[in-house]
Amino acid sequence: MSSSRRASCGLDLCSATDLRNSLHMASEAGFDFICLSIVHPRFKRELIGGKSKNRTGAFTRSDLILSSSDWNNLIVGKLSPYLAVDSEDTHFRRQSEEALNQELMYAAHLCLPAVMVTLRGPKNTNLARILQSKFQSNSTYQVWVHVFMESPAITAMQQRSDMNESEIALEKKKNDTWHWWNSFRSVCNFDKKLGLALEVSPDIPPDEVVSRWAGEPLKCLVLPTSLFLTNKKGYPVLSRPHQALIRSLASLDVQIVISGNDKHGNIRYYHQYMDHIWQTISHVDPLTVYARGYEDYLQCPLQPLMDNLESQTYEIFEKDPVKYTEYQRAIYSVLLDKISLEEKDQKVLIVMVVGAGRGPLVRAALNASQKADRKIKVYAVEKNPNAVVTLEAQQEEMWGDQVTVISCDMRDWEAPEKADILVSELLGSFGDNELSPECLDGVQKFLKDDGVSIPASYTSYLCPLQSSKLYNEVRLCKEKDKHPLHHFETPYVVHLQNRLELAPVQPLFRFDHPNRDEIIDNRRYKCLNFKISQDCVLHGFSGFFDSILYKDINLSILPETHSKGMFSWFPIFFPIREPIHLKAGDILEVHFWRLCNRKNVWYEWCVTSPVPGPLHNPNGRSYTIGL
Ligand SMILES: C[S@@+](CC[C@H](N)C(=O)[O-])C[C@H]1O[C@@H](n2cnc3c(N)ncnc32)[C@H](O)[C@@H]1O
Ligand SMILES: *[C@@H]1O[C@H](CO)[C@@H](O)[C@H](O)[C@H]1NC(C)=O
Ligand SMILES: *[C@@H]1O[C@H](CO)[C@@H](O)[C@H](O)[C@H]1NC(C)=O
Repeated sequence: MSSSRRASCGLDLCSATDLRNSLHMASEAGFDFICLSIVHPRFKRELIGGKSKNRTGAFTRSDLILSSSDWNNLIVGKLSPYLAVDSEDTHFRRQSEEALNQELMYAAHLCLPAVMVTLRGPKNTNLARILQSKFQSNSTYQVWVHVFMESPAITAMQQRSDMNESEIALEKKKNDTWHWWNSFRSVCNFDKKLGLALEVSPDIPPDEVVSRWAGEPLKCLVLPTSLFLTNKKGYPVLSRPHQALIRSLASLDVQIVISGNDKHGNIRYYHQYMDHIWQTISHVDPLTVYARGYEDYLQCPLQPLMDNLESQTYEIFEKDPVKYTEYQRAIYSVLLDKISLEEKDQKVLIVMVVGAGRGPLVRAALNASQKADRKIKVYAVEKNPNAVVTLEAQQEEMWGDQVTVISCDMRDWEAPEKADILVSELLGSFGDNELSPECLDGVQKFLKDDGVSIPASYTSYLCPLQSSKLYNEVRLCKEKDKHPLHHFETPYVVHLQNRLELAPVQPLFRFDHPNRDEIIDNRRYKCLNFKISQDCVLHGFSGFFDSILYKDINLSILPETHSKGMFSWFPIFFPIREPIHLKAGDILEVHFWRLCNRKNVWYEWCVTSPVPGPLHNPNGRSYTIGL
């Protein structure tokens, strides 16, 4: 967890002559677990034929060496390095398959929490098949796929002078370890039990490559001791770029594995250094603090129009340190624009707060009026009868005649007079998805011709995403009595963490208020094209909004322009049914519709390029928003 002050750190043992003693030493040095060959290297087996085929005796050390709780909690089992189940040599392959099965069976017998397997080249299909078959038969261990962040072959190639650039580019592609991993996990169908053990290379690859890894299910970072430098006092330290790299990945809940020989006198120093790095990661941003524990957690979007929000939901909203001050600034600004200094003692503006909830926007209006020294009269309209109780109480105890509380749906209200300012906050993570357009259209007949709506407009935005984490979360949401595709045709509100944005965000639908169109139609359709910059996998789209409250006063949850510290909205996520593999240079074409009938509003979406795909949520069969 990014908030904890220490790194969870494991020690990779090349050999352990005395396992119990090695484990004891590692834990004395502060390590949380060790990585160890499942089968002792001494017991190399030839199961099909060869000299040692008929060797008798055990194939590895006995489980009695450790207690079962030690095996279950403290040991990550490594597969033997010489296993080559993808070898073209049939004999060698069979031999390896037998040995691999034996090792995996023993790992299951010991109930190891994880098994670590190293990818040594691009071809691992048979290995993936065998592991996938174990996942199917309810293996309990996680599989940590150990790959280098960048292949040593690429680093070596860059130092060679006998290759031209196009040869290098071709070789690079073949040696791109992300492709090794991507083919492997694709064969395993993105199984949730697969995690990455990424070995940090001496040369840090370009940012784009690093952020692609950050969008993968990263379980641990492997740091060879050879990566560490020695500081003046003789202790191991990492170079600044390596420190920055580790800090940037630490928010993903990664563990650390130290591998290789101790080069600094005591293995404990590496662990202490990692703790030091963790301690220097501070999170004071209110959004990060507020969102802790919600990382990549899928929530169903609220439907405040259909359902009545609960007391605690209002309470959480009201803690936002930014939203209400921005509304107050907007109201203040309108008041000064509409009432000149000379008129300030006579003129009274009518402010309607529609969807007032428990009253924070009423307070913002009253504060603005006081600060601007301009007079207002307020109507607070709310359809949730429970929130109306709170409004009535405040009206009696604090607000007095200046505020009139109206308990009804704003679309059905018969207002006694027209408003100068219509204040509302009916926005969802995707702007219009809580039906702000429909509600405000219903009440705008009571806005004067020169009246202002706060917000004046809002726009939704879309961005293609890679995230096997979210893909798996969606896959797990199956519900018995729902359409089988239901969970892939529903958007989710989610605090995005373990993902990669595949292209810059683009605007989708915009709504303006008041809506002066002759015929009001809140249906929308748009096709967006995203240029993909590197090979990747598409799992869905993230959605955001920004809103202009008044003039230059705005709210945004876009990554680039996010209102600092505002936590009222997490992004929204629209999944797609099947992952789509994309190549650098591809144009990803996606279509989005906002559709309505008399009862409901819903979105439909589909990808049409580089490969055509199915329409999601036709006719709102899986997800609608009730009017
Ligand atoms: C997102 S909450 C905002 C509440 C409050 N203004 C705030 O900022 O904390 C939206 C509120 O609008 C109310 N609401 C939604 N649609 C409405 C409608 N058609 N008529 C009246 N109230 C509505 C909901 O009950 C809810 O209290
Ligand atoms: C408005 O004023 C009240 C009392 O003076 C205060 O508690 C509240 O935080 C203020 N609201 C905003 C949005 O500043
Ligand atoms: C939105 O508000 C921020 C902060 O007040 C400001 O810097 C920015 O220019 C505004 N953007 C627009 C489009 O008005």
